[in-house]
Amino acid sequence: MRAARLHEFKSPLRIDDVPDPVAGPDEVLVRLTHAGVNPIDLRLRDGGAGRVDLPFVPGCDGVGVAGSGPVVVYGAGLGLRRAGTYAEQVAVPSAGVVRLPDGVDPVQAAGIGLAGVTAWALVERVTAADRVLVLGASGGVGSLAVQLARSAGARVWAQTPSSSDRLDLGAERVVGCDADGLRSAVRSFEPTVVLDGLGGAFTGAAVRSVADGGRITVFGVSAGARGEVDFATLYRRSVTLRGHASLAMPAAAVRDALVGCLELVAGGQVRVLVDEVLPLGAVNAAHRRLAERRATGKLVLAN
Ligand SMILES: NC(=O)c1ccc[n+]([C@@H]2O[C@H](COP(=O)([O-])OP(=O)(O)OC[C@H]3O[C@@H](n4cnc5c(N)ncnc54)[C@H](OP(=O)(O)O)[C@@H]3O)[C@@H](O)[C@H]2O)c1
Repeated sequence: MRAARLHEFKSPLRIDDVPDPVAGPDEVLVRLTHAGVNPIDLRLRDGGAGRVDLPFVPGCDGVGVAGSGPVVVYGAGLGLRRAGTYAEQVAVPSAGVVRLPDGVDPVQAAGIGLAGVTAWALVERVTAADRVLVLGASGGVGSLAVQLARSAGARVWAQTPSSSDRLDLGAERVVGCDADGLRSAVRSFEPTVVLDGLGGAFTGAAVRSVADGGRITVFGVSAGARGEVDFATLYRRSVTLRGHASLAMPAAAVRDALVGCLELVAGGQVRVLVDEVLPLGAVNAAHRRLAERRATGKLVLAN
């Protein structure tokens, strides 16, 4: 089969002909039609997401056929601790395989694994009483978090620095601002919840912008891993600042989240924002697009 493999950290992937994988006990062999592209794939390529034995097949999520049925695959270490989805076939522990519901477009489903599970977890405690501000809403996670928060009944505003014109996800308002402009941009909204995939200066700005008693969850650092937080503001206004890592979620919670997301997509309440489907052979071009912020929503690879 063909697979896109990493031979050297910080280097482009190569398309190789490799032996077909063999499913072990309690594993399922999946013939992949599509794979999702995620920022963690770039981190892994650059040696920042744990060491793997090279050559290695990245790719955390995807869609394919197992036996005669269409399935979605995500989790169980795929593309991080074991060969992933940037290939024509993959052997997946059965815990990482979920049936693709009828009527769901495989391209949409290919974009939902890591991004969908993360968005689901972020929105778990959101209620209809909340006003949710999603930072980085043009991203794979952010675009799903906007819709999931809406389906929880909350009011939602979306922040994106550059691509707001393409963002029609049902947010009440899309604010195109940087960290310095965040507080004034959302003053009238007073978010009770901020979902922050940006970090950097945005987290400090989120602390200044959230309502008294508000909750901020940092789940990514696309704008920087360091920043300043005014702790006086944090404690005086009873703001909760926490982190979230989907990779630390229990397997059962991951599966529930994935199934829940797919049901919402099947029911038409949520759509995955897919920027483009590229052939597997264009994997390095897809990585460049993601790194250079030339994608809105998800990039998907097709076999
Ligand atoms: N904690 C977890 O479990 C988990 C799971 C998945 C992802 N993540 C992390 O969460 C973040 C978002 O993931 P994703 O898949 O949604 O990524 P993505 O599709 O690449 O989206 C990134 C978002 O961040 C914005 N952005 C990127 N660089 C920025 C910068 N320097 N300043 C301001 N905004 C910037 C992008 O805006 P533009 O549209 O303007 O480029 C886009 O809205 C990433 O950092 C990723 O590593 C964490």
